[in-house]
Amino acid sequence: MKVLVVGSGGREHAIVDALSRSPQVDKIYCAPGNAGIASQAECVPIKDTDVAGLKQFAVAQAIDLTVVGPEAALAVGVVDAFREAGLKIFGHTQTATRIESSKEFAKQLMVKYDIPTAAYEAFDDYEQARAYVERKGAPIVLKYDGLAAGKGVVVAMSIEEADAALRDMLLDASFGQGRVVVEDFLTGPEFSLMCFVHGDKVVPMPVAQDHKRAYDGDKGPNTGGMGAYTRMPFITDEDIAEAMKHVMLPTAKAMVAEGCPLSGVLYGGLMKTPDGVKVIEFNARFGDPETEVVLPLMDSDICDTFMGIATGEEFAAPVWSDDATLGVVLASKGYPGSYDKGFVIGGVESLSAKTYHMGTARRESGELVTAGGRVMIVVARAATLAEAHTYVAKEIEKIECENLFHRNDIGYQAFKK
Ligand code: AMP
Ligand code: GLY
Repeated sequence: MKVLVVGSGGREHAIVDALSRSPQVDKIYCAPGNAGIASQAECVPIKDTDVAGLKQFAVAQAIDLTVVGPEAALAVGVVDAFREAGLKIFGHTQTATRIESSKEFAKQLMVKYDIPTAAYEAFDDYEQARAYVERKGAPIVLKYDGLAAGKGVVVAMSIEEADAALRDMLLDASFGQGRVVVEDFLTGPEFSLMCFVHGDKVVPMPVAQDHKRAYDGDKGPNTGGMGAYTRMPFITDEDIAEAMKHVMLPTAKAMVAEGCPLSGVLYGGLMKTPDGVKVIEFNARFGDPETEVVLPLMDSDICDTFMGIATGEEFAAPVWSDDATLGVVLASKGYPGSYDKGFVIGGVESLSAKTYHMGTARRESGELVTAGGRVMIVVARAATLAEAHTYVAKEIEKIECENLFHRNDIGYQAFKK
């Protein structure tokens, strides 16, 4: 089989790596890919949202299966276009992707179908939003309605902070002309439950936890994710069963009932609150960096799962290893603010742990250099999470680069006594 992966981050590197373990796959292309992916796939310079370009390439190369990483590609309708052309593709249609691309669509769906989430109201008028916030009090959560590259959520601890965010989102329209969802503040540990979905069939992957803040102790600004791990002792099998029964399955059924069935990955960003598991957000794709720690544990052939869903045929539940994984992101100093690029990265070849590249480039001389905010993730796998934690720390020491930083406490909630 010839497979095309769409995207260019650590998530896509992990997908390419999983596909490269499949005996069915002869050739992998990645559009546009990155310097790390280039060692396992042929990178083609087509943007992930260039639907016409991607389709033309898939037809010309007789691609058997396309797998879409980023939501932006799904949101512009790459799946719809491929299906119209009779091409097999793994991912949701444009209308199904609204479960991620529109916060208000997702919230309305949850209310209509009784899926547990924080109470909310949506506003496009600043004065009305401000009055609602004053009535509700702080802490309170404000979410810009639309794709905002992970920066559209403000957890305001005071009314003043909430007001500043509302002004930013509704009066200054920093993200564009959109609405704002204002919702109750929930508490409890967060976890990511990614499921393979086709119609009303939903199959879970191992749960993972992301770390969004830049520095140790969950301090500092929000980022695209500074690390993740699998095997969470405080999320029990009962919690997962509850999440499947009350959140993931009813959501898949609701999307069928609404005429926009899911076909791909449904990512539940969930919180175990004192009143049970509730939805913080849905994503219509694999999580990043969760994918980088989850897919290495798949023991079965990922191609079977992708193909089963892309063709709408029955697909068997994947088989997973019982091992634990822990991934630490190496980011450019200054990220998520401004940072410099082009610093040489040495020592990567000497690692025994997996490395998935996020923002690297290769100079003509062959040197690997930094080329993004998040540069790469080092993923250690071991029998226990504690072993994976020790292992990853040793592996990171082998990487030589003067402009990188990383968190040292990934997985700390699992080690708390
Ligand atoms: P999101 O970008 O939707 O993942 O939100 C970013 C982060 O904001 C989440 O990971 C949570 O930590 C926090 N958050 C979002 N919604 C709520 C809520 N209703 N209550 C408490 N924290 C929230
Ligand atoms: N790790 C969070 C996300 O993929 O949106």
